[in-house]
Amino acid sequence: MEEKNTQTLREVTVWDRSTRWFHWINVLSIIGLMFVGIALLNGKSLGVSPEGKVLLKTVHVYIGYAFALNLAWRIVWGFLGNHYARWTTTFAFGRRYILRVRDYLAGVRGGRPPAYAGHNPLGQLMVAALFILLSVQLVTGLVLAGTDVYMPPFGGYFAEWVTGGDAERMAALTPLNKEAVVAGAYAEMREFRSPFIETHEAAFYLLLAAILLHVAAVVVTELRERSGLISAMINGRKVLAERPVDERA
Ligand code: HEM
Repeated sequence: MEEKNTQTLREVTVWDRSTRWFHWINVLSIIGLMFVGIALLNGKSLGVSPEGKVLLKTVHVYIGYAFALNLAWRIVWGFLGNHYARWTTTFAFGRRYILRVRDYLAGVRGGRPPAYAGHNPLGQLMVAALFILLSVQLVTGLVLAGTDVYMPPFGGYFAEWVTGGDAERMAALTPLNKEAVVAGAYAEMREFRSPFIETHEAAFYLLLAAILLHVAAVVVTELRERSGLISAMINGRKVLAERPVDERA
């Protein structure tokens, strides 16, 4: 019986090397960013000093650079990578998408969901939402790196804004030195910053919820379908009992 099953199994190469490296670097950098981000959110109750807060922000930004470069590469890879890594696959939400969701849900209810090599239709929605939230964090985070700690890529621009371009003030400017800034310009810059920090914080909570859902869905799907979903993100291959509906010729 065991042997018969083994004969019908097929191995499909899904995630290319770039996609797998992206995934795990992304996981590690997000863990670091969330850890430091939560410390920033709770700075007061943790008794973090103003200098300590600047240090936390600086560490957060350095991890953020690793996260940003990795995500930027993945965005490019979405145009160059294999079929399953492409944006045209991840964001394929045309009319046929609804049909695929229906088929998939009917299969789940009947205990035999259609096999997918790439993301099943619900996984596709999840991953698209994750990429959108990550991109929001990338953009808002880079702006905040400039407004809060005057770090690249926009730090020079914000430093000039808050000092009125005065060379002496620019030289004395640090995140905590309020003497170096022109009060009115600083207040204007903080007003400009406000929607970015609000968006960054809201996207953090949404991302946290999405990540928990993503991990839970992957574990449940793996337990039900046993297709090697998790190991596929390590070795690139899934093991399927039937021909996947999204197989590439
Ligand atoms: C998945 C990605 C990210 C997550 C989950 C995240 C999370 C957070 C959280 C929870 C905070 C505290 C918010 C607050 O204090 O109200 C924060 C603040 C901050 N983040 Fe991020 N972040 C991410 C990416 C980035 C990136 C890529 C950068 C820049 C390279 C960045 C730069 C900053 C800065 C400068 C702050 C300080 C703002 C402040 O607390 O006043 N973040 N982030």
